[in-house]
Amino acid sequence: MRLKDKVAIVTGTSSGIGLGIAEVFAEEGAKVVCVARREKEGEAVAESIRGKGGSAVFVTCDVSVEEQVEELARRTIDDFGRIDVLVNNAGVNFVKAFEEVTAEDWDRVIGVDLRGTFLCTKACIGQFLKQGSGSVVNIATVHTMACMAGAAPYDAAKWGMVGLTKSLAVEYAARDIRFNCLSPGLIDTQIWDDIRNGAEDMDTCLAHWWSNIPMGRVGTIREIAQAAVFLASDEAAYITGANLLADGGMTSQLISTPSYASKAQQRK
Ligand SMILES: NC(=O)c1ccc[n+]([C@@H]2O[C@H](COP(=O)([O-])OP(=O)(O)OC[C@H]3O[C@@H](n4cnc5c(N)ncnc54)[C@H](O)[C@@H]3O)[C@@H](O)[C@H]2O)c1
Repeated sequence: MRLKDKVAIVTGTSSGIGLGIAEVFAEEGAKVVCVARREKEGEAVAESIRGKGGSAVFVTCDVSVEEQVEELARRTIDDFGRIDVLVNNAGVNFVKAFEEVTAEDWDRVIGVDLRGTFLCTKACIGQFLKQGSGSVVNIATVHTMACMAGAAPYDAAKWGMVGLTKSLAVEYAARDIRFNCLSPGLIDTQIWDDIRNGAEDMDTCLAHWWSNIPMGRVGTIREIAQAAVFLASDEAAYITGANLLADGGMTSQLISTPSYASKAQQRK
């Protein structure tokens, strides 16, 4: 068990990648503090983890609200006496033409994806310093390597997240508090469902995506969760300030070469 008895706060656990991280962390022996805004869904996730023999509690919290985040850290310390890992996963996925983006859109995306990461980290840092240890995993995106049209607020927030991660990695390296980003490519979550549901022609849609993802498939939630386990765990003890890509080769590809890609697919 790679996270045995580690106390881990994971934000945004009521769906998608955050739910998967909470489940896999518990399988790896962590005591998981599941964080979400909606009580019913959030509590159900913690209950399901406990039902499978894992350790999990649920705390209702909007990561963009400072008082709620401070209460989250206080409750974690009261209940478990320490915080070993913080996973800043809660996020707003956002696509809109820049000329239509409002100041409210900007504040909402930056408020959760970047300010939320700042607030949660700030609320835990005192405890990390007291312990002389801590590992923060920030769920960023492949958009931190290159950008996508129609995602300016999201891209700005996630690039900010990488900057914050590297800055804190340097500031706290000598005190054994590590900060890393994990950047997923396209993962089998609601986003992938939405892409396929919105496709006019499925063959064209899949051909487009597979030409952009050298592995020729989307990633699974568990694959992202396993990468998060690694960064959170002592196996990554000398890794800080990194941005680990889990993207099936997406950001390594300069340009797709269809004839070669189809030959490679045939060899599988
Ligand atoms: N799915 C992908 O392909 C993909 C790719 C790259 C990065 N990501 C990142 O992974 C993370 C998870 O995304 P997902 O695809 O699982 O989406 P999701 O919408 O299923 O998960 C996001 C979670 O964050 C929660 N959340 C949103 N605002 C919150 C707030 N203010 N306070 C507390 N919780 C809040 C949501 O309720 C939800 O449970 C996000 O940070 C996203 O940017 C996802």
